Amino acid sequence: MHEMTRQDLLAAFAGESQAHMRYLAFSRKADKEGKPEIARMFKAITYAEQVHAHNHLKALGGVGDTVKNLETAAAGENFEITEMYPAYDAVAKLQDEKDALRSIHYALEAEKIHYRMYIDAGKDAAQGADHRLKEIYVCPVCGYTHEGECADFCPVCGAKKSVFEKF
Ligand SMILES: [Fe+2]
Ligand SMILES: [Fe+2]
Repeated sequence: MHEMTRQDLLAAFAGESQAHMRYLAFSRKADKEGKPEIARMFKAITYAEQVHAHNHLKALGGVGDTVKNLETAAAGENFEITEMYPAYDAVAKLQDEKDALRSIHYALEAEKIHYRMYIDAGKDAAQGADHRLKEIYVCPVCGYTHEGECADFCPVCGAKKSVFEKF
């Protein structure tokens, strides 16, 4: 692929991914405001943006086999843990940005666990196997991710276990 087209698709992938998440948040807000039809419209379009994002990613050759995808995923999490979020955290501290500090801290804590999960799954996938997992719980407040039985409260943000999403 020509470099300029590759850059265009990368930008489009980023833009569509962001539109997907933004419209999802807008849909939830419309629901909370008692406007279910507008919520439904945002939800439908959020799905279309997801389709666009996936198509751009596929055109970029960004979806490999699962062994490769686990490597890509682990490398991304590792970058966030070792460089990106520590640097963002330092800037947010310098600028005394409390909301940013909280959301950066929440993400950084979860990424450490995500990295471990991808590495562990990668070992089995490299042998041609699937990976055995217990139930995975995710905190809807901070994104804390845990495999197996977890404590009654989120260790990162203190939310109750009863609100966790189970996968
Ligand atoms: Fe992550
Ligand atoms: Fe949490």
